[in-house]
Amino acid sequence: MAQPGTFTEADFTMVPGQMGPKSARALLAVQETISSWATPYAYLEIGSYAGRSLSMHVRDPDCTYALSVDLRPEVTGDERGDVTGYNLITDQMMRDNLRVVCSDQDMAKLESITGTSADVAQRKSRRKFDLAFIDAEHTVRAVVADFLNILPAMKADAMIGFDDTLIVYPALEAASACLAHRGLRHRVVYTRANIGLILLGRYVDRELLMRPRLLSSADEARDRFHRFYAETVLRPAGTKRSA
Ligand SMILES: C[S@@+](CC[C@H](N)C(=O)[O-])C[C@H]1O[C@@H](n2cnc3c(N)ncnc32)[C@H](O)[C@@H]1O
Repeated sequence: MAQPGTFTEADFTMVPGQMGPKSARALLAVQETISSWATPYAYLEIGSYAGRSLSMHVRDPDCTYALSVDLRPEVTGDERGDVTGYNLITDQMMRDNLRVVCSDQDMAKLESITGTSADVAQRKSRRKFDLAFIDAEHTVRAVVADFLNILPAMKADAMIGFDDTLIVYPALEAASACLAHRGLRHRVVYTRANIGLILLGRYVDRELLMRPRLLSSADEARDRFHRFYAETVLRPAGTKRSA
């Protein structure tokens, strides 16, 4: 993806998944950024479901290794109430979806593990990652665990994305506190698409290739989280949702 604009939001929708158009815009900007900072780059995704967010990297010639980790459990924890049904989409189904838009050469760079972020250390490749995206269990506890599990697999200069800061904003604050405690330089960036980013190493001083109107301050992100939390998590206990 040497040139911004190589992929568009329409490319996202060619593979089934749960990413909406606003998230797609932010993720494309993140992909254009990492591809301009590190070529070739290696991509790690925790939570790939049917393949939508993963597909953009598997298709990207600048990405030469992609690891997808997904537990595919029957019931998944979520701050809004448990989600059921992720077990209905198998790793093979995800691969079949990817094949529609990916060449054999693209597919050859994909490794997938049915498991959790704790299994990243079991990957066949010894490569470390330039970019990771955490989009698995949407509880603060799980996102912090995912962050801590993948951190040793990230390069010193790297970027970690978090989906749905609306729901898991405290996890980014906790991750930032862990990094500060370890004396690791970092910067947290929030977006209006509710995708948060942690920049590590030399990337701390760089500007993302993202339209300013897509960025948001930490205060705005916290306010959005508080409002959402009050409206959804603190509502009377509901029934299980399906994926
Ligand atoms: C929101 S979906 C991912 C959406 C995907 N990124 C897309 O583009 O459509 C969450 C995924 O996380 C997986 N998951 C749930 N709990 C997990 C865990 N503890 N570890 C790894 N994956 C998990 C589910 O199986 C599901 O496929």
